[in-house]
Amino acid sequence: MSITLTTLQRKKAAGEKLCMVTAYDYTMARLCAAGGADILLVGDSLGMVMLGYPDTVSVTMDDMVHHSKAVARGAEGCFVLTDMPFLSVRTGHNDAMRNAGRLMAEGRANGVKIEGGRELAPLVTDMVQAGIPVMAHLGLTPQAVNALGGFKVQAKALDAAERLLEDAIALDEAGAFGIVLECVPDRLAALVSRHVQGVTIGIGAGAGCDGQVLVLQDMLGMYTEMKPKFVRRFAEAGSCIREGVAAYCAAVRSGDFPAAAQSFAMDDAVFAQLAERWK
Ligand code: KIV
Repeated sequence: MSITLTTLQRKKAAGEKLCMVTAYDYTMARLCAAGGADILLVGDSLGMVMLGYPDTVSVTMDDMVHHSKAVARGAEGCFVLTDMPFLSVRTGHNDAMRNAGRLMAEGRANGVKIEGGRELAPLVTDMVQAGIPVMAHLGLTPQAVNALGGFKVQAKALDAAERLLEDAIALDEAGAFGIVLECVPDRLAALVSRHVQGVTIGIGAGAGCDGQVLVLQDMLGMYTEMKPKFVRRFAEAGSCIREGVAAYCAAVRSGDFPAAAQSFAMDDAVFAQLAERWK
């Protein structure tokens, strides 16, 4: 059965936690779907973990469409949520609508995620009215890393916490079906979760959110350049892959691979004729 906005809302009402994880390609999307994820986020974190940039600022609309298409083909019942990259909602209403439309029509996303506060509320309403489900993203918004002065916890002071709460309520009232809360104090995230109708998904925001998200490469131990405090490794796939590649290289170098089991035989008589002609 496919996960829809109704399913997400029903799970929040029932107190059932939502599981979101990033995915950027078909193979991983299939594995995450088989693992039971509700939402696959085609995050612009792909700029860092797939493309090797130091942050998400250089990710383009074309990058997002390309990866979203691949994930959607493997998503098998999961809700596919695709990030709107840096500035794609900030250069005017028509650009924002067109860009979101591309992620849905070409990228086969079921919804889009946008980083920003109450200033985006009118746009959210227009998108929702146009049939584009929107998830907002507050707290540490990685596209603003240069303005925020680095990847650090947000909204610890009273005025900043109140601003975040007001942003969340404005976006919720504008029709956002959910809000990602990144790197904010756990009790603030729990408070937001109680004050909005939509689902809250935390990353470094404690256990009081309606669900959680992690970057797949972080939680599987495949991306080791940075390890934020909120990451827990649920597997050591990085070591597993390194060991697999090392074993492959050793087998090729020693002549152990390929063996007969990985080779294709030729009929003796056919080969005898061939060998006779090509001495
Ligand atoms: O791009 C991304 O992966 C994200 C998550 C960190 C929520 O936005």
